[in-house]
Amino acid sequence: MSRTILEVMNLKKHYRQRAGILSAVRWRERVIPAVDGVSFYLKEHETLGLVGESGCGKTTIGRTILRLTPATSGRIVFDGHDITAMSARELRPLRRQMQMIFQDLDAALNPKMRVRDLLREAITVHHRLSDDEVGRKTGELLEQVNLKKSKLSSFPRELSGGEKRRVGIARTLAVGAHFIVADEPTSALDVSIQAQVVNLLRDLQRQLGLSYLFISHDLEVVQLVSHKVAVMYLGKIVEMGLADRIAGAARHPYTQILWSALVDRKSAEASRALPTTRRGAWGVFDFERPVRGCRFAPRCPVYEANGRPAVCTDAATEPELRDLGGGHYVACHFPLW
Ligand SMILES: Nc1ncnc2c1ncn2[C@@H]1O[C@H](COP(=O)(O)OP(=O)(O)O)[C@@H](O)[C@H]1O
Ligand code: SF4
Ligand SMILES: [Mg+2]
Repeated sequence: MSRTILEVMNLKKHYRQRAGILSAVRWRERVIPAVDGVSFYLKEHETLGLVGESGCGKTTIGRTILRLTPATSGRIVFDGHDITAMSARELRPLRRQMQMIFQDLDAALNPKMRVRDLLREAITVHHRLSDDEVGRKTGELLEQVNLKKSKLSSFPRELSGGEKRRVGIARTLAVGAHFIVADEPTSALDVSIQAQVVNLLRDLQRQLGLSYLFISHDLEVVQLVSHKVAVMYLGKIVEMGLADRIAGAARHPYTQILWSALVDRKSAEASRALPTTRRGAWGVFDFERPVRGCRFAPRCPVYEANGRPAVCTDAATEPELRDLGGGHYVACHFPLW
C-alpha cells in the first residue's frame, strides 16, 4: 500500500485586491476567493489530475501547496510534515523534494544562461559536487529527458518549446524532486510535442517513482495521465474520483458538460452546450458576486430542467462533496443518473 505524499485539508487562498478609486479615507478592497475550501490527498507514485476552466484556481492551488504563496487557511501536509506555517528555514530541506513545472516555458530559464549552466545551477543548488560529478549528473539528466548533448551550449531562445520544457523538467529532477506540480505542462506546445512531453512525464514517473499534481484545462489530457481526477469550478472541487470513473461515469453536471464540449470540440455546438453567465462568455468568471448555494447554478442545465429548485441556491445548503461509492465524490444535490 503506497504512502500518502500530500494531504490538503480545507485549503483556502483568498487574494485581496485594491479596487476602485481612492475614496476619502481608504481604498476599497475586494476579496477573490481563488481557492475556497479544497481537500484532497495524493499517494506516492501517483498522479492527481486537476482540471477546470481558466481562472478556476488551479495554479493558485499548485502555488499554495508548494508554499510559493501563503495559504489563507487550511492545512498542507507534505510527506508527513505539516508545512502550512513552516518557516523558510524549516522548509528548506523539503523544498528540493517538491517542485513546480511552470506553465510559462521561459519562467524558470534564465535567458542569459546556456543549458549546461542551467543544469549545473540546479544540480549544485543543494549539493557541493566536483566538476566530474556535475558532468556525470548532467549526462544522466540529458538521457532521462531525451535531450541531445549538442543542446548543452544553446541558450533558451535557441531551443524549441518542447526542448525548453525538457530542460525545465531536467532542472526539477536535478534538485531531487519527487513530488512535482506540473502546471499546464503541454499548453504552449504543438499537439505532437504535447504527446512526447506527456509520455516523458509518464516514463519518468515509472522510472523514478515520482508523484504529480497534473494541472490542465484539458480534460482529455488529464484523464490520460492521471490515476485520480479532481474537477474544479470557481475555487471548489465539484467532482473527484478514479480517472476512468470521471471519464466514463461523470456524475456532476459540470463534468458532464466538459466532456460533451470535448467530444464536440470541433463543432460550433461545443461552446453553446453550456449556458453562459450573466457576464457572457464561456470561461469568464465573476468572483465578485458569487451566487448563494451551488456556484454552478447559473450555468447548470440540471437546475433548469428541475425547475430551479431552491435547495440549489440556498446559502445554507451549498452542496458539499460526498462519497457516492468507490471513492467517487460529487458536490451536487442532483447527481446525474
Ligand atoms: N496574485 C494574484 N492576485 C490577485 N488575484 C489573483 C492572483 N493570482 C490569481 N488571481 C485570481 O485568482 C483566480 C484563480 O486564478 P488561477 O489560480 O491562476 O486560475 P487557473 O490556474 O485555474 O487559470 C482568478 O480569478 C485570478 O484572476
Ligand atoms: S447542486 Fe443543483 S445547481 Fe449545483 S450542479 Fe447540482 S443540480 Fe446543478
Ligand atoms: Mg493556471
